[in-house]
Amino acid sequence: MSIWAIVPAAGRGTRVGSALPKQYLTLAGRSILEHTLSALLSHELIAGAMVAIAADDVDFPSSLTSLCGKPIVTCVGGETRAHSVLNALRASSCTHAVVHDAARPLLSADDLSAVIAAGVSSSTGALLASPVADTLKLSSDSSHVVRTVDRSSLWRALTPQVFERDALIAALDSALFAGASVTDEASAMEFVGVSPLLVEGRADNIKVTTPGDLAMAEFILAQRS
Ligand code: CTP
Ligand code: MG
Repeated sequence: MSIWAIVPAAGRGTRVGSALPKQYLTLAGRSILEHTLSALLSHELIAGAMVAIAADDVDFPSSLTSLCGKPIVTCVGGETRAHSVLNALRASSCTHAVVHDAARPLLSADDLSAVIAAGVSSSTGALLASPVADTLKLSSDSSHVVRTVDRSSLWRALTPQVFERDALIAALDSALFAGASVTDEASAMEFVGVSPLLVEGRADNIKVTTPGDLAMAEFILAQRS
């Protein structure tokens, strides 16, 4: 068995709104991408990281070729996150892929261990997820409530998501070819009839998406250290 981290980092971060793509913004002295890679490569079972970056990326540091004594390799990403993940999977040669957003720098060691353990031991693969905490409303016209939705079986999908590499490539290929909406790896596996295992993870494994998330991430990091 060989496990690699697959890190989609080919987005622009348009919602954060900075000129620099968000994965290169600094958080507590290190880029978001470095925080993310360091969290992943600190795990004893992860042998290396394949990072999908934009074709016109000029910000990936050429010095970032290894961390924790493990290789960091880049490949060119694609039009959507799913295409970037697919390119990175094809460029790697592992048995299992731990797919994790570059923009989630707060992954904890415990959550990473739990999702890897579940993902490699289950034929369905596994993903970190967090139970929905808010009361959910269904709207008709995006301004008026139709009704309250039962949240008892609803989860927010996080990353990492851990799958057998070849199975995930096949699933992403099928789902993308069919034009299905593929916003995470699990949705591609679901498309081919697999029910991935939900592993409850910390709600503070946030994806830096808006400017406010940067301040939140700084705060969470400071609390942890
Ligand atoms: N990503 C990618 N390739 C794309 C689009 C996104 O590798 N074509 C990556 C991003 O770099 C990020 C992760 O997928 O690490 C999650 O996507 P998201 O949070 O949407 O990041 P961006 O697409 O960069 O942000 P935005 O949607 O605000 O532009
Ligand atoms: Mg995006």
